[in-house]
Amino acid sequence: MASETVPRQLPHQRKGSAGEPVVSLRRAAVRVGGRTLWSEVDLEVGAGEFVAVLGPNGVGKSTLVKMLLGMVPAAAGEVRVLGGEPGRTGDRVGCLPQRRAFDASLRIRGSDIVRLGLDGHRWGVPLPWPTRFSPRRRQERRRVTDVIELVGATAYAHRPIGACSGGEQQRLLIAQALVRRPELLLLDEPLDSLDLSHQAAVAALIGRICRERGTAVVMVAHDVNPILPFLDRVVYIAEGGVAAGPPREVITTETLTRLYGVPVEVLRTRDGRLAVVGSPEPPAVHTDRHAP
Ligand SMILES: Nc1ncnc2c1ncn2[C@@H]1O[C@H](COP(=O)(O)OP(=O)(O)OP(=O)(O)O)[C@@H](O)[C@H]1O
Ligand SMILES: [Mg+2]
Repeated sequence: MASETVPRQLPHQRKGSAGEPVVSLRRAAVRVGGRTLWSEVDLEVGAGEFVAVLGPNGVGKSTLVKMLLGMVPAAAGEVRVLGGEPGRTGDRVGCLPQRRAFDASLRIRGSDIVRLGLDGHRWGVPLPWPTRFSPRRRQERRRVTDVIELVGATAYAHRPIGACSGGEQQRLLIAQALVRRPELLLLDEPLDSLDLSHQAAVAALIGRICRERGTAVVMVAHDVNPILPFLDRVVYIAEGGVAAGPPREVITTETLTRLYGVPVEVLRTRDGRLAVVGSPEPPAVHTDRHAP
């Protein structure tokens, strides 16, 4: 197992601002296109907890994120986000959706992309001069600067976003999701398209935000290894069902063989990384897409 340990929070710290779990699913199910993707899912995520959603392509990981955003209804069971109905949580939820790419010719500055997280609804509408220098606008500018610093993007935030590298764009988008200081951060494959060292850096950044700010993080991931040191729990979705719990308990030969319905073996390397091998083909979940 990974060597770095995360200080665990006391139970009383694990509730949202109103004392309720940040995310709560009870016997939840989801249907899209007339097909049930998953069902009977129980999950609770508290403040400051870091939970990964893992599983093969097409099992419904992004659909879970959409459900927490209120974009896809539950077909059964109960889903609560910050004590209320999903989709009615306003600024309290930040999100980084799956697959983001900017055209190389896009001239919008990175810092403006971050600012969109604050005032996207006002995008393109010029502010009257007096408003531009109001204390509120100054405070907003400060917030944008601070969050850019937090993700380590100060050096390139002034550049056009299309001229930033994939990893730089990713950090700026994480800053956009964070700028309103959400209580829940939903990240759909934020490490995708990053090289190994940037995966580690962004994983550590998200782990730190989680610990220091008490932000609950639900992250869809393809490779659990970069985030393993920071994780409280994983939710593993596969054809054969869903398992949730601490990584050590869920990512095991027995559990994954049951979920995949084929023989699967979980191997642990000496440095604590996990590899999943099996037939008919090793699930892509724990392989590294960027390895040579
Ligand atoms: N609106 C829709 N209508 C019909 N089918 C849909 C719809 N949205 C998603 N699906 C299907 O639901 C399944 C789950 O999709 P989802 O995007 O949640 O998968 P995923 O686990 O995130 O996969 P990936 O790892 O490839 O991102 C897929 O088979 C997808 O084609
Ligand atoms: Mg997806």
